Formats: sequence, C-alpha cells, structure tokens
Amino acid sequence: MNDQTISYTGPERVFSGVQPSGSLHLGNYLGALVKFVAMQEERDCIFCVVDLHAITVPQDPKRLAAQTREIAAAFIAAGVDPKRSIIFAQSSVGAHAELAWILNCSARMGWLERMTQFKDKAGKDRERASVGLFAYPVLQAADILVYRATHVPTGEDQKQHLELTRDIADRFNRDFDAPGFFPLPEPLTTGPGARIMSLKDGSKKMSKSDPSELSRINLLDTSDEIARKIKKATTDPDALPSEPDGLEGRAEARNLVGIYAVLAGISEAEVLGQFGGQGFGVFKPALAELAVEKLGPVAERMRQLADNPSEVDRVLADGADRAGAIAEGVLKDVRQTVGFWSP
Ligand code: AMP
Ligand code: TRP
Repeated sequence: MNDQTISYTGPERVFSGVQPSGSLHLGNYLGALVKFVAMQEERDCIFCVVDLHAITVPQDPKRLAAQTREIAAAFIAAGVDPKRSIIFAQSSVGAHAELAWILNCSARMGWLERMTQFKDKAGKDRERASVGLFAYPVLQAADILVYRATHVPTGEDQKQHLELTRDIADRFNRDFDAPGFFPLPEPLTTGPGARIMSLKDGSKKMSKSDPSELSRINLLDTSDEIARKIKKATTDPDALPSEPDGLEGRAEARNLVGIYAVLAGISEAEVLGQFGGQGFGVFKPALAELAVEKLGPVAERMRQLADNPSEVDRVLADGADRAGAIAEGVLKDVRQTVGFWSP
C-alpha cells in the first residue's frame, strides 16, 4: 500500500461555477462573484457557467444559451477579468462529463444519499427526480478535479458538496494507489456574504426559487426596485444596537447590517458604530443608497454586454479553448491511472 499521506504538490488554482438557471441575486453576488474577483489577485482562476448542472431540472432549450451568456456577462460585469481568468461554459469542455462518469465509480451511493440539496430539490417525489439530479455533486467534483483546482470559493450552501469533493478525490487517490494524484480542494465557504438571507424572512436564505420577488434583490433590478425592496424588507421595531452582540436573535436586522457591511467593505461593528441607536427609518434609506451605488454599475455593464452578445461569445470561446487544454491534460493522466486502453 502506498503512503496515502503524500499530498498533492502541483500549483494552486481556483475553480467555481454558477448555474445558468434564472437571474442572479444579491446572495450570488456577495457570496460568489465578489469573492471571485478578489481571488484573481492571488491565484490563477477558472470560472464556469455550469449548464450541465442546470439541466438536472428542466430548462427551456430556447433560453439556455442566453442564460449562459447572462451569467458570463455577470462575471465580467462584477470585475472578473477574462484575460487573466478563464470564463467558459461547462458543456463546451467534454472532459467534465467524462471525468464525472469515472468519479461516479469512486463515489458511493451512501455519500450521495446524505446530500441535503438533493433532498430539498427532489422534494417528496424522489422517484421522479432525474438521475442527473442525484449524481449532480459528482459532476461538481469532476468540474473541480479536472483542473486539479485547490481552492473553491462559493456561498455557505455548497459546503457539503465541497466536502464530498474531497472525499471523492481521496477515494480515487486510494483506489488507484495514486497518492496526491488529485488535490483535496479547500472550500472557501465562509466570511462576510457567505449566507445572505431573504429580505422577507431572516431564517431562509435568499434564493432564485423563492416565489416572492420581494425576498431578493436581482442583479438586474432598477434603482427604484432595489430601494423599494429594501424599504419593504421585514424588520423588527427596535433601534439598531451599537455592538454586534445586540443582533443576537434579530435575524432580519443582522442580515441587513451584514449586507451593508459587505457592500461597504467594512465590519458589522463599524456599521453599528455608525448606525447604532438609529431606527430602520434611517438605516434602510442609507442601505438602499449604498446598494444602488454598488449594484448600479454592475447592472449597467451587464446590460451593455446583453446588447453585445458577440463580445460575450468571444470570451466564452476563448475560455473553452484555454479550459479544454488544461482539462484534456489532466484527463489523459486519469485515463492512464484507471488503465484504459490507448494506442
Ligand atoms: P447557484 O445560483 O445556486 O448556482 O449559486 C451560485 C453561487 O451563489 C454559489 O456559490 C452559491 O453558494 C452562492 N449563493 C447562492 N445563494 C446564496 C446566498 N443566499 N447567500 C450567499 N451565497 C449564495
Ligand atoms: N452546485 C453549485 C451551485 O449550485 C454550482 C457548481 C457546479 C459549482 N460546479 C461547481 C460550484 C464547482 C463550485 C465548484 O451553486
């Protein structure tokens, strides 16, 4: 038995993905996109629009490509630099699906059965869920491992999937006596913005699938919509505390203070230093102004890119070439390790 403590020693690389299924909201922006932009300063980054994941539930084939362009445009508008980082569509690099199959044979049914996102998405009628929805986290592991990515920035909701990715990588390395073949990627799922809650219910996360439009701020909302949604956000009647401890048990207040802090790039304590003792009548308009100031230019750039789809297409085509070259190299090693025939 080889020494399984030998770990991966290759270069550091960041990978993350966002599904092209519905419009992006403030949670996606603060939990994912803002982190992506910050990551570029430190490491090589690959950002993927995961359309293979999107089709695990029905999508309109007439709209899917446009949705894919919209997510790519959001990456660019938020500040991902397509020259430095790679931006591409998952389905344009076949290696993801091929590695996913191979990893399906390392992953265990029991591991997937524990995934809470599958339980949530499949709902009561599990028997009618697609096999793809069940195997979804294995494809996610393949996305990451086909680039031997070492760091994965996402919101907190992806923590369980990223822990599974580590288990699958470790299992593969052991099954094929190849210590350090795949890195065990580091989940970057914490920090400010990792869990933005619904504006209507501080116990539910902000989500694309919430039926209430008032629960979320969409990246393409107008300034008026942003201001109106913040004004209508659920709060309690008390004034803001002057210390973060005072937010205990006040989920809605904590969420709004958190959003202000991440948008302004300051701590919750600093926000409360400024607004402690004030009511929401003062805080909400200040938050609305800040949100409009920060999100307005992102929406503006997204609209410009929507009017120039060929610009986004060029980025996606170039990204597919660059990502494909890396993935093919890793997949070649995988095929050899598994023992497939080759000429
Ligand atoms: P999805 O739209 O589910 O593909 O999510 C894209 C990214 O946004 C992932 O990294 C999620 O973890 C992140 N995300 C989604 N909802 C939230 C939220 N309410 N707060 C923070 N991050 C989120
Ligand atoms: N499952 C992720 C989500 O719903 C999207 C995703 C797919 C992803 N592949 C990934 C995230 C790889 C990080 C790394 O948000």
